[in-house]
Amino acid sequence: MTQTQKPLGLASDHAGFELKQFVKTYLDQHAIPYKDYGTLSTDSCDYPDYAHALARGIESGEVEKGIAICGTGEGISMTLNKHAAVRAALCWIPEIAKMTRLHNDANVLVLAGRYTTPTLAEPIIETFLSTPFEGGRHQRRIEKMSLK
Ligand code: RB5
Repeated sequence: MTQTQKPLGLASDHAGFELKQFVKTYLDQHAIPYKDYGTLSTDSCDYPDYAHALARGIESGEVEKGIAICGTGEGISMTLNKHAAVRAALCWIPEIAKMTRLHNDANVLVLAGRYTTPTLAEPIIETFLSTPFEGGRHQRRIEKMSLK
């Protein structure tokens, strides 16, 4: 498995907390270091608070990649993608995780905590972490994403 030198950043709201706990177990089993930007319980909270914390971790260089989870994966994706340095991709099957690494150089994998089981999440995570960016014409395309 290819892994970044830096820890993987994790973020979720209450609806993603349980799947994030599974993700942490998976990362521990594979000796992949991580930094958890919260939330730290199932108490109701606001996903943008944790999405922004993870995005700031990417912007500062504290982490290079991340995994983010809310109930549907949608709100946390929308928030993360407000940050120019973030390319967050909501993935529900391994093939999407593979293609978004190959073509989009996605740096945050987003999962839907209420709809993605740990059994399904595991191959999605494994694929996301082990698939390199293809570069070439795709580099030109991702450079056209930012409005700045
Ligand atoms: C929380 O109830 C839910 O709205 C949130 O986890 C997420 O699905 C929003 O997009």
